Amino acid sequence: MLLLSIFGSPRRNGFSSRLHEELIIPFKERGFFIERVYAYQTDVKPCTGCGWCSEHPGCCINDGMTDIYRLIRSADIISISSPLYFSSFPSPLKAIMDRCQLIWEEGRRNKPVLKTAKGLFICAAGDEYKCMFDGVSMGIKHFYNAINTSYSPEDAILYPLSDSSSEISLEFIEKARIIGERYSAL
Ligand SMILES: Cc1cc2nc3c(=O)[nH]c(=O)nc-3n(C[C@H](O)[C@H](O)[C@H](O)COP(=O)(O)O)c2cc1C
Repeated sequence: MLLLSIFGSPRRNGFSSRLHEELIIPFKERGFFIERVYAYQTDVKPCTGCGWCSEHPGCCINDGMTDIYRLIRSADIISISSPLYFSSFPSPLKAIMDRCQLIWEEGRRNKPVLKTAKGLFICAAGDEYKCMFDGVSMGIKHFYNAINTSYSPEDAILYPLSDSSSEISLEFIEKARIIGERYSAL
């Protein structure tokens, strides 16, 4: 079984990455293969909306996405963590998501692919304000749907007020472990 974990933060020791590592622990304990992708270390160019993938298989940009497409196609579980940047995703993570338009186009051209993977989401934000996670919550739901991955929004880990303390609240660490336990046991 393969867990693909995509880290959207440039900070390996930031809140979203630390919570992500907590979530991964039960998968490790249950013998999953774990592939970590650090969005800021990938060479993934933004989607140019050229339309190639609406007519042809594959993407006409040849870069770091080639490996990521392979991982996405073979993963049983995909976990994504992200900081909240201007109420949205940071650009390297968004570039990876946008380049998955190719998978959505494949589903549109051919008969729909069975949903085999399950998706998870963690987001950390510095502040706390009304509807702050609405943009990323909608975006991640749309993304997982486009790549034929089932996703339950109630299992998202949405961490506010990270800029107020360097300590992560134990309640959220516990939640990450519980979600990891549940999905690694499926
Ligand atoms: C470019 C940038 C934009 C940000 N935008 C927001 C924002 O819109 N809302 C918010 O609550 N925090 C915002 N923050 C604060 C981060 O979300 C916060 O520091 C978070 O902990 C970063 O995630 P990380 O710890 O996983 O790196 C922003 C930080 C940066 C650097």
